[in-house]
Amino acid sequence: MKSVFNRRDFLTAGAALAGSLMMPTAFAATRERVRIGMIGTGMRGQVLLQELLRRDDVEVVALCDIEPIMLGRALKQVEKFGKAKPKTFGEDRDPQAYKRMLDAGTLDGVIIATPWEWHAQMAIAAMQAKVPVGCEVVAGVTLQDHWDVLNTQLKTNTPYMLLENVCFRRDVMAVLQMVRSGLFGELIHLQGGYQHDLRAVKFNSGDPAKPYGGGVEFGAKGWSEAKWRTEHSVQRNGELYPSHGIGPCAMYTNINRGNRFTRINSFATKARGLHDYIVKQPGGANSPSAKTQFKLGDVVTTTLACENGETILLQHDTSLPRPYSLGFRVQGTDGLWMDVNNSIHIEGKSKPHQWEDFQAYQDKYDHPLWRKHAKDAEGAGHGGMDFFVIQSFIEALKARAPMPIDIYDAVTWSAITPLSEQSIAQNFQTLDFPDFTAGAWKTRKPIFAL
Ligand SMILES: NC(=O)c1ccc[n+]([C@@H]2O[C@H](COP(=O)([O-])OP(=O)(O)OC[C@H]3O[C@@H](n4cnc5c(N)ncnc54)[C@H](O)[C@@H]3O)[C@@H](O)[C@H]2O)c1
Repeated sequence: MKSVFNRRDFLTAGAALAGSLMMPTAFAATRERVRIGMIGTGMRGQVLLQELLRRDDVEVVALCDIEPIMLGRALKQVEKFGKAKPKTFGEDRDPQAYKRMLDAGTLDGVIIATPWEWHAQMAIAAMQAKVPVGCEVVAGVTLQDHWDVLNTQLKTNTPYMLLENVCFRRDVMAVLQMVRSGLFGELIHLQGGYQHDLRAVKFNSGDPAKPYGGGVEFGAKGWSEAKWRTEHSVQRNGELYPSHGIGPCAMYTNINRGNRFTRINSFATKARGLHDYIVKQPGGANSPSAKTQFKLGDVVTTTLACENGETILLQHDTSLPRPYSLGFRVQGTDGLWMDVNNSIHIEGKSKPHQWEDFQAYQDKYDHPLWRKHAKDAEGAGHGGMDFFVIQSFIEALKARAPMPIDIYDAVTWSAITPLSEQSIAQNFQTLDFPDFTAGAWKTRKPIFAL
């Protein structure tokens, strides 16, 4: 597949930010192709790898994973595309093998798709080695991680993008157009979250052929995310996965670009769902997993206050039976959109007190990038949005333009997790939200998708 984004889309965005985000001179000229390495070739890494392999402006030159089965699957993907075999790292299961890959001096960028606890240290090592980073959500685990990632980026001036794909969802981008055209009037309140029944992700049988469900193992005996993600539900109580919900809401409200989060608090319910799931599985009631105490409340509700007077409510809900929904709501003085029933109400346009179907609005406000690239995005992960997230990272790298979801976005969205944990631990206290931009939010301009 050819590189399909009009480079001007990104260069224009780059020009808008030229004053605030200077590229290092080493990154001066544009380039036609980039050499990419990947750390973590698990279930997510393989989806992102597919997007990289579809492109003729990317050479996947290095892959690192400490699980030979995952590394082998990734190599098979490369072979299927008839591309050159990348150099591989991690076959020896050395968790530090990625450093050898970064230090080889052959990469124009690296994608990090490893467990959360690795993201900050891997991103920091990459930026120190002057390798631009595309990091899967989240940016770090502790609040200090977020400061460390930010400070390393500022010190090294190495590009960093959080690969938050929901910002590229078709309806989410159409709503961005609606917000910017003033359809909702002045924004007042927004909602989003991560409402996704992950019980069959958090537990499986450990069989590499069956990553979802079919058992109650986790930790060393689990496979893929059950190996590591479940432990976060054992040890932590907070909004563990904020960026899918907050990313779009932050774009709509221009967070770090004329607006900022000022205060945060979180409430958590009791934890019942995961234990309930385990004991209902065959053999589950007598398994060691049934004795595990889970700390993560089944539904965690976080409220953020913004400098410009909006509130944003997030819900993390991954341990109970429910259909998937990110639960978006964007509400202003003139009306609101809610994605759960795909409906909108705009005063003066919709019948009073009635919902309208969203489709006509989607068609009218479809984002130019989607209008242009819908065909290219066909077949890509998560309804096409994975095409756009990889595309935007690669195009920004090639053009040496600022990353559309940058370091300030990354740490601000992701630091919601440790702050929500702190709030819950302190009896649901409301906390000040740190200003990672050190005041620059007042003058920074929106660039996401222009
Ligand atoms: N944006 C999205 O829609 C989306 C979807 C799924 C997952 N994710 C994110 O992607 C990341 C990976 O998730 P996943 O589902 O692929 O998990 P996974 O467990 O399937 O894959 C993680 C891989 O990282 C490897 N790894 C662990 N430590 C390593 C190290 N030190 N060096 C090299 N490799 C190492 C593991 O062996 C494994 O293969 C997570 O951050 C997750 O939150 C994002």
